[in-house]
Amino acid sequence: RGKRAFIAGVADDNGYGWAIAKALAAAGAEILVGTWVPALNIFETSLRRGKFDESRKLPDGSLMEIVKVYPLDAVYDSPEDVPEDVKGNKRYAGSSNWTVKEAAESVKNDFGSIDILVHSLANGPEVTKPLLETSRRGYLAAISASSYSFVSLLQHFLPIMNPGGATISLTYIASERAIPGYGGGMSSAKAALESDTRVLAFEAGRKGKIRVNTISAGPLGSRAAKAIGFIEKMIEYSYVNAPLQKELLAEEVGNTAAFLVSPLASAITGSIVYVDNGLNTMGLAV
Ligand code: NAI
Repeated sequence: RGKRAFIAGVADDNGYGWAIAKALAAAGAEILVGTWVPALNIFETSLRRGKFDESRKLPDGSLMEIVKVYPLDAVYDSPEDVPEDVKGNKRYAGSSNWTVKEAAESVKNDFGSIDILVHSLANGPEVTKPLLETSRRGYLAAISASSYSFVSLLQHFLPIMNPGGATISLTYIASERAIPGYGGGMSSAKAALESDTRVLAFEAGRKGKIRVNTISAGPLGSRAAKAIGFIEKMIEYSYVNAPLQKELLAEEVGNTAAFLVSPLASAITGSIVYVDNGLNTMGLAV
């Protein structure tokens, strides 16, 4: 049987989540995605109307099939956690079972188990503010959406993951080096995500023979990155300063993710793997 993957954080065809889905589909995996509730409608409509058909093309000419799209809001673990104003919000009211616990239950009911869990989501409401000007609420929201969301996903999906399975998340160098502009506690959130990668690798390894790794990716002009505001500058900076002077393609991150969740990487867990044209190794801008 082919492997089954659940990829949380796909809402268009531009981001790393989409590229990872494609690389896994090309390798023969069955693709399920979790899409942020407020973005669900437009994503499903675009998918249905063929808007993504060009970017669904796999190397063999066939189109990636997304077997099922699950609504998801990874800042809520179970229905009791959802505040009234969100419950009543019309962007949420049309969907159901979108907390992490319910999404895992739905996948279990539909398919029984998965082999691969991908976390490709982040959100920091105050990302454009320097850390020194970030509110407690903004900082905790960044951690909740970008770091704890992974802990929660693994907590709830681990019981339905087949032994030998693997998880991947996406991180950014701002966790370990100061990157002015990546604010709002997002740098802190990525540091937490990386630390948790090591601890969860131990715990999920012992508990379920599951591997946990994270990819530290270079800059990509995704929807989320454009919201930060300086992504074009970062892409240019990378182009000028990285050992490899080429555009970083989402596909390159997708291919690394496919390797890391495959048996080819069966002894790799708890690692941060850099997919950034080598930029992280430089100590001097040139
Ligand atoms: P993206 O916009 O394609 O992906 C972010 C996704 O997170 C979106 O689909 C959004 O709907 C979803 N999301 C936000 N809040 C959510 C929530 N509460 N529940 C469920 N889904 C939620 O953008 P991108 O850049 O591909 O981001 C994917 C991952 O890659 C993120 O972790 C990001 O921090 C990371 N990354 C991105 C880099 C870049 O330059 N674009 C560089 C390094 C890491």
